[in-house]
Amino acid sequence: MIVDSENDIKYLKAIGHICAMTLKTMMEHAKPGMTTLELDNIGMEFLQKEGATSAPMAMYQFPGATCISVSPVIAHGIPNDHVLREGELINIDVSAELDGYFGDTGASMVIAKHVPEYEKLLAAARSALEKAVSVAVAGQPLNLIGRTIQEDARGNGYGVIFDLTGHGIGHKLHEEPTEVFNYYKSKDRRILEEGVVLAIEPFLTAGRGHVHEEEDGWSLRTIDRMIAAQFEHTIIVTKDKPIILTI
Ligand code: CO
Ligand code: CO
Repeated sequence: MIVDSENDIKYLKAIGHICAMTLKTMMEHAKPGMTTLELDNIGMEFLQKEGATSAPMAMYQFPGATCISVSPVIAHGIPNDHVLREGELINIDVSAELDGYFGDTGASMVIAKHVPEYEKLLAAARSALEKAVSVAVAGQPLNLIGRTIQEDARGNGYGVIFDLTGHGIGHKLHEEPTEVFNYYKSKDRRILEEGVVLAIEPFLTAGRGHVHEEEDGWSLRTIDRMIAAQFEHTIIVTKDKPIILTI
């Protein structure tokens, strides 16, 4: 959506904050010995307490309030009876709706342990998101986002997952502009409009950069079972610095 009133900004900030707090709460509670379904319930209760609705559940009948992906699954992981273990790399993605406005955020983390190989990937993915957000300025080409993500990732020794993209968001979970690529696509001539609401979500990997859908019909794992990480923010593009909604 394109923001056209202070009211839009107010509501987007409200749901963005709820998504961010839900994600933070889930990350704080993610401990060895608990199942991903238990972790999802913590997220669902938080959303309910705030009066928000899980977006994947409402929009796509996803079997969970949030997506919890255990490596090498990197997106759309279904919360289930998987018991989290120390040193596991996981991704939590929270998207939700309140009063007709949507927010979307995500983060990867390691369960209860310092694993240098994973921490390095997480730092690179965080860096890619931060840099991508900083170049999302009205009037700039939209493909500057993908270019920035890809260049930053390469500089840190990683590639991107080509099959997974960011997206427009606002009155729906996924809307125009669809496909905010995480790599440089020279043919993409779209220009960032002032007030456009975007979910930017770089997926970095040590592998080949493609995903495979598991038999459950949802889980997307890296095709080569290599590690991957994602961080995501919902933002409003302005003439200056973007407004980050999911904080
Ligand atoms: Co998301
Ligand atoms: Co998203």
